Amino acid sequence: MNNIYESRDVFVSGGSRGLGSNLVKQLLARGVNRLYVTARRLRSLDELVELGEGKVIPLCMELTDIESIKAAVYEAKSASIVINNAGDLHFGNVLTMQMEEIKHDMMVNHFGTLQVIRAFYPYIKHLNSPRIVNVLSIVSLASKAGIGGYATSKAAAFSATQAIRGTLSKEGVKVHAAFPGGMDTDMLAPVTSEDKDDPAVIAEEILDQVANDVLDIYPGHGKGVGALWKTDPRQLERQFTGA
Ligand SMILES: NC(=O)c1ccc[n+]([C@@H]2O[C@H](COP(=O)([O-])OP(=O)(O)OC[C@H]3O[C@@H](n4cnc5c(N)ncnc54)[C@H](OP(=O)(O)O)[C@@H]3O)[C@@H](O)[C@H]2O)c1
Repeated sequence: MNNIYESRDVFVSGGSRGLGSNLVKQLLARGVNRLYVTARRLRSLDELVELGEGKVIPLCMELTDIESIKAAVYEAKSASIVINNAGDLHFGNVLTMQMEEIKHDMMVNHFGTLQVIRAFYPYIKHLNSPRIVNVLSIVSLASKAGIGGYATSKAAAFSATQAIRGTLSKEGVKVHAAFPGGMDTDMLAPVTSEDKDDPAVIAEEILDQVANDVLDIYPGHGKGVGALWKTDPRQLERQFTGA
């Protein structure tokens, strides 16, 4: 296995729980040098800091606050692999849910992620074999009715990822997009019926595929969805929305 992570400085947003904490644990196992990990409360990273034995540098970052993004990125400016994992989801019908909730998911998942990349841009392009990994979702590809606001934000983040990839590929930065399906994390706790992927397995798959230079990554349940989206996007939309 090609271990691109060994001795590298890596940044992971939203490392306090879910997929993010699994990414952090596996990056430590893969021999990273320094691991900059963000959360909104530093105390929520205590366990990972202890596990990292000096390698995990906890940073406070709120994706709706540009000053906190700039401060966190400045501390982490040696990171040549940037994993944008942090995200938020409000459930609801886009026609009737609070407009503020729709805007919040857009602020966090699209604008927040974009601001992190913009803040890293002056630094990362000068580093060796740099990479940006954006954790998107299968609903970046087709929306689902009960999470239409979140899906819109993840579709916007996918579009921004493509624009960034176009620009940064010319500057030697590889830009990866990961499209997981439903995972067993706090984010999807209100959904009981879905067959959810284990975030530890998804973290491993994402890191393996980034190392193998796969730019669009469809881990776990994302695999079948990605295949259908490529062959019949209208059928995927029907499957997700019933329309
Ligand atoms: N779970 C799923 O089924 C699923 C499916 C596809 C894609 N995804 C994507 O996978 C990524 C990880 O999700 P997860 O399931 O691991 O979610 P999670 O368990 O809810 O964890 C979310 C992480 O994002 C951070 N975060 C949330 N809002 C933030 C904000 N405003 N500013 C900064 N950080 C914030 C949280 O930090 P705090 O601890 O400080 O709140 C936490 O570390 C997200 O991008 C999500 O959209 C999830």
